[in-house]
Amino acid sequence: MLKNALLSLALVAPAFALPAPQGITISDTIKQKPIQMCGVAQNVVLTDTPWIVYNMHYNKALTKGSMCTGYESVSTGANGLKKIKWNAVTDIEYVKATDNVPKGYTFVGLTQNLSTKLSAIKSIPASYTWTRTNTTAYKGNIALDFMIAPTAGDSTSSKAQELMLWLEYTGGQLPIGWVAGPKATISLYGTTWKLYQGVNTDTGITVSSLLPDVMFKGAWEGDVKEWLMALVKVGVFGQDVYVNVGNAGTEPFYGKARVEAEVALEIKL
Ligand SMILES: *[C@@H]1O[C@H](CO)[C@@H](O)[C@H](O)[C@H]1NC(C)=O
Ligand SMILES: *[C@@H]1O[C@H](CO)[C@@H](O)[C@H](O)[C@H]1NC(C)=O
Repeated sequence: MLKNALLSLALVAPAFALPAPQGITISDTIKQKPIQMCGVAQNVVLTDTPWIVYNMHYNKALTKGSMCTGYESVSTGANGLKKIKWNAVTDIEYVKATDNVPKGYTFVGLTQNLSTKLSAIKSIPASYTWTRTNTTAYKGNIALDFMIAPTAGDSTSSKAQELMLWLEYTGGQLPIGWVAGPKATISLYGTTWKLYQGVNTDTGITVSSLLPDVMFKGAWEGDVKEWLMALVKVGVFGQDVYVNVGNAGTEPFYGKARVEAEVALEIKL
């Protein structure tokens, strides 16, 4: 499951192998105090939740500054679903040569009910609320990131596909496949989205990104299965694929910012 959580989505793939997990803390939410993680692959697995909180600073070598992920707390919402509060704190100097390189991915990732066929999943209830306060120019997005493949557990072969749902983005970040133009327009979650698609040349993995015609302003809620089924409908993949990775996070490129976020995300079988 840690291996699955390791793959992240990026406009420009990491130039080096993804960092091996390190500084892993395995805890439950009764024992786990708030923690700020600034390591290259520092994370905390919350065993009584479906989540890992991860500071995946895979392009640390290209970063002038720091990128940290904080775990704050877990609570249960009125709808009975658990929610996790976390934050992403970046202080990354603008450097022209790397302004188009994501420095990492800070996220909450699923650890449970993965490697399941899409057709066997009842629903993937989710919500994401966030505020971002940047005190310098900032580039980055707020996104959900899933991976599917014809085989259970595959998130690294070229048969795997990466799927991104960009809720909000700023500073001029563009998806893979932008130059080719949108492949489809999709109605979903009360709005319309453009589908961009392209191969991440560093990994050989096809990335399909949905960008909303009007960005969400700090809050989104929906069933992730509807997004995946919308991609089935336009022929991106079939219903017999496995859902192997799922997470919600933010990809910083540069700037000084604090993202405060709360996420609910789980796979119901
Ligand atoms: C925050 O970032 C955006 C996008 O780069 C920029 O337009 C805005 O001026 C920034 N805010 C501050 C206070 O620097
Ligand atoms: C996994 O799926 C089962 C069956 O729907 C469900 O009871 C359980 O809550 C799910 N686990 C998580 C962490 O969502």
